[in-house]
Amino acid sequence: SHPIIFDTDPGVDDAQAIAIALRHPEIDLLGLTTTYGNVDVETATHNALLLSELAGREIPVAQGAAGPMVKDRHPPPAHIHGANGLGDIALPPVKGKAEAVSAPQFIVDTVNARPGEVTLVAVGPVGNLAAALQLDPGIIDRVKRVVIMGGSIREGGNVTPVAEANMFNDPDAAARVLTAGWPLTLVGLDVTHRCVLTDAHMTRIEAGQGELGKVLAGSFAFYRDFYREFLGIDGCCPHDSCALAWLLRPELFTTARGHLTVATAGDAEGQTIFAPEGRGFIESRWSRTPLVEVCLGVDGDAVSEWIADTL
Ligand code: BDR
Ligand code: CA
Repeated sequence: SHPIIFDTDPGVDDAQAIAIALRHPEIDLLGLTTTYGNVDVETATHNALLLSELAGREIPVAQGAAGPMVKDRHPPPAHIHGANGLGDIALPPVKGKAEAVSAPQFIVDTVNARPGEVTLVAVGPVGNLAAALQLDPGIIDRVKRVVIMGGSIREGGNVTPVAEANMFNDPDAAARVLTAGWPLTLVGLDVTHRCVLTDAHMTRIEAGQGELGKVLAGSFAFYRDFYREFLGIDGCCPHDSCALAWLLRPELFTTARGHLTVATAGDAEGQTIFAPEGRGFIESRWSRTPLVEVCLGVDGDAVSEWIADTL
């Protein structure tokens, strides 16, 4: 099984991925760490606690970044995820509380307690990972792998013509995390835009997930309406679940190795820049960073089926 920490800003598609992390028999969910992004960080923490309680699990939730490391915070996209992050549906009360330690400290402690075992799956702005690196750079050698939903290699952006939301929301943190030198896989829009979760998938999910299913289905309806209106898609892209799909079903993806950076300023702010391994660019700075893996292709139908089957 895969011991993971899931770093998240729930968020409708985050909620779907959290449900997978809670339910999949091959995932050992060690903790949820929260960040601002789709919502403010207090709401993210509330939603993380709620989702695990609805699944009947007591998972540690550690609260993290309230904003980007350097820049000003962008306003949360309430028209996409709802003001409460879960499509503005009515939510039951939460019983539990967040851990006393911060998300970055929780990451450091958990990774150090199980050297070589823990995978960090990050599906929001990556400030908690950058802060964990600052607290203890030694985790670079002790983490098993870092899987990030974010960025875009050839697909273009979703908040600007070139930038994907998680990268755009904290490009300075992303620059540190992507170039840190730990084993890293980027699961970006190149693959998440090939996956569509439809009403038919969600009907199956709702039927199988009890109280949790009601929240997943209700929030899905709001998110799906955004996709319909703005993108003309009949369904929604389950971005964050794709990171878990890569972890558990890597054979559904095609990947490439290379050097990855992110632009931290100007019109390209938040754009991921990928230099494939072995391509001799004249200007050597594009090959100075450590090698990482990026996803370029996917069997999108199979991933959507996998999500519905898992739930
Ligand atoms: C990413 O941005 C967020 O809005 C989603 O939850 C996902 O993590 C997609 O660009
Ligand atoms: Ca997210």
